Order: sequence, then C-alpha cells, then structure tokens
Amino acid sequence: MDFAITWPASVLAISNLTLRIAAPYFVRWLPLGPRFTPLIYTSSVLYFTTFIVNLLCLLVTVDFVYRNHVFYNGNELSFSRVGYVDSSSARVVIRAPLTLTVQIEYRLENIAQWTPGQVLSSLPGNHDNVLTFALTSLEENASYVYRTNASHIGSFRTSLRNPKRWSMVTTSCIKPFYPYNPFDHSLRIPGLEYLSRFVSLHNVDFVLFLGDFIYIDLPHRFGWTTGDYYEAYRQVYSSPSWSSELFDLPWLHIYDDHEITNDWSGNETGLYQDAIKPYLDYQQAANPPPLRKGATYYSFTRGDVSFFVTDTRRYRSSSAMDDGPGKTMLGETQRRDLESWLETENVWKVIVSGVPFTRNWRGPEANDSWAGYLWERQLLLEKMWKTDGVVILSGDRHEHATTLFPSPDGKSKVIEFSTSPLSQFYQPFERRYQQIENTDVALYSHPYGISKFGSLTFDTSSPDIWTLGFELVINGMDVWNYNWTLSRTRQ
Ligand SMILES: *[C@@H]1O[C@H](CO)[C@@H](O)[C@H](O)[C@H]1NC(C)=O
Ligand SMILES: *[C@@H]1O[C@H](CO)[C@@H](O)[C@H](O)[C@H]1NC(C)=O
Ligand SMILES: *[C@@H]1O[C@H](CO)[C@@H](O)[C@H](O)[C@H]1NC(C)=O
Ligand SMILES: *[C@@H]1O[C@H](CO)[C@@H](O)[C@H](O)[C@H]1NC(C)=O
Ligand SMILES: *[C@@H]1O[C@H](CO)[C@@H](O)[C@H](O)[C@H]1NC(C)=O
Ligand SMILES: [Fe+2]
Repeated sequence: MDFAITWPASVLAISNLTLRIAAPYFVRWLPLGPRFTPLIYTSSVLYFTTFIVNLLCLLVTVDFVYRNHVFYNGNELSFSRVGYVDSSSARVVIRAPLTLTVQIEYRLENIAQWTPGQVLSSLPGNHDNVLTFALTSLEENASYVYRTNASHIGSFRTSLRNPKRWSMVTTSCIKPFYPYNPFDHSLRIPGLEYLSRFVSLHNVDFVLFLGDFIYIDLPHRFGWTTGDYYEAYRQVYSSPSWSSELFDLPWLHIYDDHEITNDWSGNETGLYQDAIKPYLDYQQAANPPPLRKGATYYSFTRGDVSFFVTDTRRYRSSSAMDDGPGKTMLGETQRRDLESWLETENVWKVIVSGVPFTRNWRGPEANDSWAGYLWERQLLLEKMWKTDGVVILSGDRHEHATTLFPSPDGKSKVIEFSTSPLSQFYQPFERRYQQIENTDVALYSHPYGISKFGSLTFDTSSPDIWTLGFELVINGMDVWNYNWTLSRTRQ
C-alpha cells in the first residue's frame, strides 16, 4: 500500500524538480541540446504520466459516486414484478411512468381466454406511479400469464395447497455499480446475474430478501426526502441485470437500516416516515398481509413450514442503551406476537430477522445486531427451546455464518443461517466472526465474496424426520452445503 502511494509521489517530485532546474539552465546558461533535451523530455513524460494516473483516480471516483445520480434517475422506469404467491392468489407490482390508471388481465398459461383483473389508479405525484395488483381465486399448482394495458407482461406459478418439498432463496443487500468497472452499465448488479443463472437451473419457489435493497447513504447520500428514496428504488429496479426469470419469481421483502440510514435505531417519526413510504409502495404492498394494521412484520406458511418475518428497525430501542429489561429490538407488541406464534404453530418454524441473531460478529457494529439486545434474545431463545426446533434466517453482515444455539437440555435445535450480500462489498481484511461464548456455536463461516445467497430446500414428506438442505452460493458457485433435520417424534 505504502509503495503504491509513495512511488508516484516521488516520481512526481523528482521529475518536477529535474524539469525546473534543467530547463532554465539549458536555455539560459548551457545550450548543450544532446546533454539536456533527453533529460527534459523524459522528465516531462514521467511528470505527465503520473499526473494523468492521478487524474484518472479522481475521475473514476467521481464517476462511481455521481454517474447514476446524474444520468439514471429512473424516471422512465416501467417494470412489473411478482410478489407473494400462494396456492390461490398472487400479487403483482407494476410501475407505469406515463399512465395513472392501469388494468391487469391474466390467464392460465395453456388457455387462450384472458380474465380481466383489477383496475387501479394512483394519484398524480403520489406513490411514484407504483401499483400492486392482487389476483385471487386462482387454481393451485398452475402456471399463469398476466399482462397490463400499460405494456407489462409476466408469468408466475401458484403453489400446491400443501407442498411437501420446495425451495427458496435468502439473501440481502444490493448496491448497483459495485464493484466498479468504468465500462459497465452503472446500474449493473452482478449478484442479480448470478441469482438469475441459479434460478434458471434450479426450482426456486420464492426469494426472501432481508433488507438493504437500496443503500441510500452509500457511497454518498444525495438527499433526505421521500423523493430521494424513491429514486434509489427506481435505480435498483432499472438495473439491466434483472432477467424476466427474476421478475417472474415471487420476492418477499423486509427492510433494514440502509433503507433509512446506516445502523438506524431511531423511532417511527421524522426520517423514518420519509424513508418508509417508498418501501411500502415498492415492496411491502406485495408481501403477505402484515400481522397488524399499519405494521410491516408478517407471517405466512408454505406446506408444513411457517415463517415469521420480523421488523427489527421500527420499534427498537437505541442500540447505545444499556442492555437489560426495557431494551428491545422488536418492541412489546411484536415480541408478544412472535411469542404467541412460537407457542401455537405446530409446524416447522422459521424466524426471519434483518440483523444477525448470533452475537459472534464482533466489532464496533456488534450492538446493532442482537448482540446488543441479549436480554430480549435470551427471552426468545427460551421460548424457542420449548419447541422442537427453530430455523433463523438473517442477513446484513455481508458474510455467511451458520450458528447453533443449543438448549441447556440439548434436546431442542435452534440454528441460524445468516447470508449476505447479494451484491455488495465484504470486509477485505477484518475477520469479525468469532465464537467466544458457548451460547453461540460456530458451525461454519465464510466472509469472502461480493455475492452470496443461501438456497433452502424443505422436505416434509416423511412423518418422522423433516429435512432442510442448505446450500451456500458465492459468486455463482456452490461453496458449502449442510443438511439439517427436525425430528417430529417429540410432539
Ligand atoms: C387501461 O384500462 C383502464 C380501464 O379500462 C383505462 O382507464 C386506462 O385508461 C387504460 N390505460 C391505458 C394506458 O390504456
Ligand atoms: C403439479 O404440477 C406439475 C407440473 O404440471 C405436475 O408434474 C405435478 O404432478 C403436479 N402436482 C400435483 C400434486 O398435482
Ligand atoms: C424520535 O427521534 C427524534 C430524533 O432522534 C427525536 O427528536 C424525537 O423526540 C423522538 N420521538 C420519540 C417519540 O421518541
Ligand atoms: C455495546 O453495548 C454495551 C452496553 O450494553 C457496551 O458495554 C459495549 O461497549 C457496546 N459495544 C460497542 C462495540 O459499542
Ligand atoms: C445433503 O443431502 C443431499 C441430498 O440428500 C446430498 O446430496 C448431500 O451430499 C448432503 N450433504 C451433506 C453435507 O451431507
Ligand atoms: Fe447491508
């Protein structure tokens, strides 16, 4: 590193000095061309080369920070994507930049007759021209095609009413134009290209995206208004890296800090209100319905598996607060909802958290994760240990780690798969995942790679043993797989 900085600097200094001494001396005192001109020309070439390299460093920085903001605000974006789909309904999000009233139609793939669906309108200037359609009374296990009169087309497949073997993908964190390449489209998202290839080769039923879908504050924040947040969503959805396969796949979302600002632990006033509106329009409206009116956390089931997707930002106490009773990640109401779900669901339970549940990620940002909320975490773990077992999915750390949380009697099994980013940086030098306490047993960790996602295959066809196959995909390649089971004999 030092060499890379001092070498150009010393070349610049020496060539500069040589030029300034040799040129006046040559033209005023000793006009010996063969002796002085090679020295003067060589110094000039060295000086300008070094200068141009430095100028390029400045230009790529400016290009990286400003190109999207200046040239790609996404105002003309027209797109549609599939949201939550179950055995009888589907949600479709569209943006139509030019029309405010849009109608959707749909049909079974192998039947020519279109069925008219909803006509929706948005008010001018409101909701960024984004609408979310709900298609209902669909047949199970069937392929559908949809179209709108604002030129959107797409397709989706409904699930079986009680599927026994199916797959999903989990990940979080997207930033276009990273890693920087001046010749790329500046909205390129390489992780989406890896994911697109993966879903074209594997059966994936849906993607669960755990937040940091936008980075409003990286590499540079351009503003604090709702309009600035809308622009960031438009940019991600304008990326040329989206394929029609990815838009046809159901994506379920929860938000994390970068949809508001880094390590957000505020409250639901001020900035939160400005930031959340675009999230509600682009993402939340196509999720399963929230558990409470006005909330964003939700629960849904697929076959024998039930998911509880938590909101770990809106209700949390400040991460700077001392840990203990009164410090909360979930807030009172959401925690009670989660606890009663843990008590009453008699299927395989999956808890989804934007931030890692494990305390094994150390360092200055540890308190932003559950490591800063250990009192509440313990309360929840004790509830989880009363069940057969719980799977926790999380993201946010731009690394992968699989961690076990053994119950004192060793009978209940709680495991976390934390996997991110889909397309963003990882810490090149610092290794922060480390097991110290025996509460969090490190099974596997993998920090490297700018693109990571986990593929989970649930198989509940046997009455006694249910299995979950986890596969870690890094930069498009299978890196690690692990089989987890749930014994159904305890109930
Ligand atoms: C789509 O259909 C609706 C309802 O018929 C209509 O109000 C709207 O103007 C149409 N939009 C376009 C772009 O044709
Ligand atoms: C669901 O659809 C697929 C593809 O059409 C078919 O192979 C499968 O048998 C169906 N499953 C059930 C249980 O109907
Ligand atoms: C919410 O946070 C803002 C900014 O930090 C603060 O001014 C305000 O008092 C807080 N409101 C509540 C209800 O805590
Ligand atoms: C995390 O919070 C605890 C108090 O709950 C504090 O003692 C600790 O220093 C904090 N860690 C960091 C890295 O800020
Ligand atoms: C997990 O199970 C799958 C399918 O049964 C198998 O192909 C794979 O090798 C297993 N992985 C491990 C690590 O045992
Ligand atoms: Fe992130």
